[in-house]
Formats: sequence, C-alpha cells, structure tokens
Amino acid sequence: LFSAVEMAPRDPILGLNEAFNADTRPNKVNLGVGVYYNEEGRVPLLRAVAEAEKARLAAQAPRGYLPIDGIAAYDSLVQKLIFGEDSPLLAEGRVVTTQALGGTGALKVGADFLKRLLPDATVAISDPSWENHRALFESAGFPVKNYRYYAAASHGIDLPGLLEDLNALQPRSIVVLHACCHNPTGVDLDLADWEQVLEVIKARGHVPFLDIAYQGFGDSLEDDAAAVRLFADAGLPFLVSSSFSKSFSLYGERVGALSLVTDSREEATRVLSQVKRVIRTNYSNPPTHGATVVASVLSSPELRTLWEQELGEMRSRIQKMRLAMVEQLRTKGAVQEFGFVSAQRGMFSYSGLTTEQVDRLRTDFGVYAIGTGRICVAALNQHNLDHVTDAIVEVIKT
Ligand code: LMR
Repeated sequence: LFSAVEMAPRDPILGLNEAFNADTRPNKVNLGVGVYYNEEGRVPLLRAVAEAEKARLAAQAPRGYLPIDGIAAYDSLVQKLIFGEDSPLLAEGRVVTTQALGGTGALKVGADFLKRLLPDATVAISDPSWENHRALFESAGFPVKNYRYYAAASHGIDLPGLLEDLNALQPRSIVVLHACCHNPTGVDLDLADWEQVLEVIKARGHVPFLDIAYQGFGDSLEDDAAAVRLFADAGLPFLVSSSFSKSFSLYGERVGALSLVTDSREEATRVLSQVKRVIRTNYSNPPTHGATVVASVLSSPELRTLWEQELGEMRSRIQKMRLAMVEQLRTKGAVQEFGFVSAQRGMFSYSGLTTEQVDRLRTDFGVYAIGTGRICVAALNQHNLDHVTDAIVEVIKT
C-alpha cells in the first residue's frame, strides 16, 4: 500500500521549525514562523489568558461536546470584534460565524463550502501570499492564480497591476485578501486602495475571502478591521477567516473562526446548516479550551482591558524592533538600506534577502528565515538583534 508513496517536501514554514529545533547552536534564532516571542525569546502566556484559565480550572467544568459550530457566545463575540459592536449586519442577523481550528481551519472549511457552491471557480491569491493559501485552496480542488500585489522596487503595492489582474479573472472568482498586516510582505493597502479593489470585485461579481489573522498588530483592533467593515458596508456576500493564535498568543489551542456575510437572516440559517455539515464530516466539532478562554476575556470588562493592553505592548515592541533593526544595520554599514522595514506592519518583513542569502543566514549563523526572504520581526529582541544584524550585514556583502 505505502511502498510507492513519495517523500513530500518539507513545509516551507513549519518545516523550518523542525530544522530549527534540531539545530544545537546556542545562538540560533528562529525568524521563520509567524510567532510573537517576548523580550526573553519566549512565547508569552498573556496575563488575561492566565486569569481566565485560572477561573476555568477552578470551575471544574465538564468537557462535553461543543455544538458543531462551537460556543455560541464565542461566535457572537468574534462577530463584534470583526464587524464592530454596532454593525447593522449583526443586528439584521446576516452574519454566520462558526468557531474554527485557527485561521487555517476557517480557511479550509470556507474553501470546502465554496467548492460546493462554485465548483468551477478559480481562486486568486496575492503575489506573494502566505505559503499555505495556495496549497490549501488547491487541496480543496480549486485552480489557484496569483494577482499582482507587491512592488519589490518600491517596497509598496502594485495597485494598477492588482486591479488589472482582478479585472482579468473570470467573473465570480474567489479572491483571497489579507485584511491587515499582509503576510508575508507587511505591506497593506490603504483605504483608498481598498475602495478601488472593492469596486472591481463588485463589478466582476467576485467572491472576496478576507483573511484576518493579525487583527491588533497593525494600528489597533478597530483600525485593522477597516477593510472588513468596508466590505460589510458594500452589501455583497463574502467570507472572513479570523484567528486568535497571535492576538491571544494561543497558537497551539487552534482558536479561530469563519464568518460568512449573507443577504438575509433566512439565508444565514440555510448557510449555517450547510457549513455545519462541512464541519461535521471533517472534525465533528471544535475543542473547548481556547474558545472558552477567549470568550471569557472578551466578555469581562477587566480582562478585556488587560488583553488590549497586552496586545498593544506586543504591537509596540515589534515596532521598536523594526526601528532598532534598521538602525543597527545602518550603524554596522550594511551595503543596503533597510529603512522600508520600519514602515511595514504586523509580524513580518519582506526583507528583500535572496534565497541564497537566507540559506547562508541559516547555515553560517543559525538565523532561520523563510526562503522568500520573509523574516518574523516579532522574534527579534535585545539579546538576539546584534547577532541577527551581524549575520545580515555579512550575507548581503557582494
Ligand atoms: C506563519 O505564516 O508563519 C503563520 O501563519 C504560521 C503558519 O501556520 O504558517
């Protein structure tokens, strides 16, 4: 049965973790995976999370099955965070939200559901995009194309290219968009750009699938949801995958959600019934712990304030690291200018390092980055920055 099975390539992101873990060099640094590490190089357990967990443990809650679509209170709190407390869509009962296994799980449930509705559709993702977008939509049976996005020369957006490519897609294509903190480039559309993208999407009847895995890591929870809110106001159907992996530092708990914006309360009921079938035949129902913790934090005024403060601290520490990295590279006489890194947003920087330079960073210095040159700035700290910038200065020397 298994004799002809070929060896699969290592996952470009999580596969790097395996190599990093096996590396015995004491000064190794993992700038690969999108994970926030604190100043001590550890994944933090947020105080708001620890408080909610303490209360949960004390309550000795039984571990029965959850409903297929997850904890109702969690789903409703997610909706408010993404669409806004006063969203008319929520008041009208037009949004379906189901708990999901992280942002990836939400994308997969959404993709499987869309395949039933639009079996012949093409999926378009940004060039570049998160490594797993293409693989995930291809595994759901869709052909996947790229639309132009990043302009390497200016470290900005190729807006004319982006609009042209969206226009050229067959009508009713599925367009995957990063709502904020674009992964991997850290370069976002501004509101005026979003308005133009929305116009094309409406004109072509495309189906937007907004991926928001980094809400709170750009400017603020509210500001980072601006694109979702813009689409919500436009009155078209769309999907949103969201995640608390990063914003709650709950990576391993797999806490995310899929939201679907429908035309009416009645349509929402039908859509939910079908999404539940996708979930039931996939993993039955979601796990309890992470979503319970998130719901407790979001619904408690004290814990929510504490969480927002902790999220703000993570956001500003990343920004400090961006500035410090740029400054050190300058001081050390790097042959390239990296000022653009400080304008990028979220956890990542598309550093412009080539695959060969990234290989050298790893083999010669134990500094791990993604082959495309993506580095996770959120893994930098005062203890490893010197080593990382020394290494970068060295590998970019011609
Ligand atoms: C990343 O892009 O590194 C994260 O989203 C983690 C992942 O699942 O790839």
